Amino acid sequence: MLTTNDLKESAARAALDLVEDGMRLGLGTGSTAARFVDALAGRVASGLHVICVPTSEATRAQAERLGIPLTTLDETPQLNLTVDGADEIDDQLRLIKGGGGALLREKIVATASDRMVVIADESKLVTTLGTFPLPVEVVRFGLLATMRLIEAITAEAGCVGEIKLRPGAGDAPFVTDQGNLIIDCAFGAIPEPEVLAFALKRVPGVVEHGLFLGLADLAIVAGSGGVRSLRRVGA
Ligand code: A5P
Repeated sequence: MLTTNDLKESAARAALDLVEDGMRLGLGTGSTAARFVDALAGRVASGLHVICVPTSEATRAQAERLGIPLTTLDETPQLNLTVDGADEIDDQLRLIKGGGGALLREKIVATASDRMVVIADESKLVTTLGTFPLPVEVVRFGLLATMRLIEAITAEAGCVGEIKLRPGAGDAPFVTDQGNLIIDCAFGAIPEPEVLAFALKRVPGVVEHGLFLGLADLAIVAGSGGVRSLRRVGA
C-alpha cells in the first residue's frame, strides 16, 4: 500500500526527467517540491549543471544545504522550467497554491519560467477549485478594511465563505517571506476562478492570490495506479 509520501516522491522523481543539463530552474515550496529538490541534489552531485531560483526562504535553505547552485531573478530573469507543488489542481490545470504561504514568490518565479510543471499526489485533483481555502496575500496596513473589501468583492464574484487571517506562532499572525499576511478564504467552491481572480486584484491591499490560472503547462500526478502526466489544453 503506497502512502501519500510515496506518491509525492514518485511525482517528484518523474519530474526529474524533464531537467536537462544547463537549465535554469525555479524550485517550488512545500513537501512535494522539497522531494524534487532532494532528488535534484542527487543529480547535481553526480555532475548535472543547473542554476536555480528558490520560491521561498525554506527552499533556499534546503537547496543551499544540499549544494544546489542558486541564483536570483535579478541575475537570471528568465527560467526554463519551474517545478512546484499545488494544493488543488482542476482538469484545466488551474491551481490553488499558497498552503505554505509562498504563493507570491511562487507566482513570480512560475511567471518568469518558460514552463511550469506541477507535481502532486492524486488527492490534489479536484473537479471544482475551492475546497482548499484560497490563500490571499495582503499588506498589513488597513488589514480589517482589506478583509471587509475582500468579503464584499468575492461575494459579488459568487464566492461566499469564512475569511480569516492565517495564524502564526503564538498570538502572532503568519508572516510571509515578503513580510505580508495571509487571508484564507474558505469558499467551498469557486465556480469561475478567472472572475474571482480579477475581482481580488481590484482590492488595493491584496498583493497576490493563490489562483494560478494558465500558468501550469503540465501536471505530474502520482496515484495508486502509477504516475500520469496531464497537459493543459493549448500549452
Ligand atoms: C506553498 O506555498 C504551496 O503553494 C505548496 O506548493 C502547496 O501548498 C503544496 O504543498 P505540499 O506539496 O506540501 O502539499
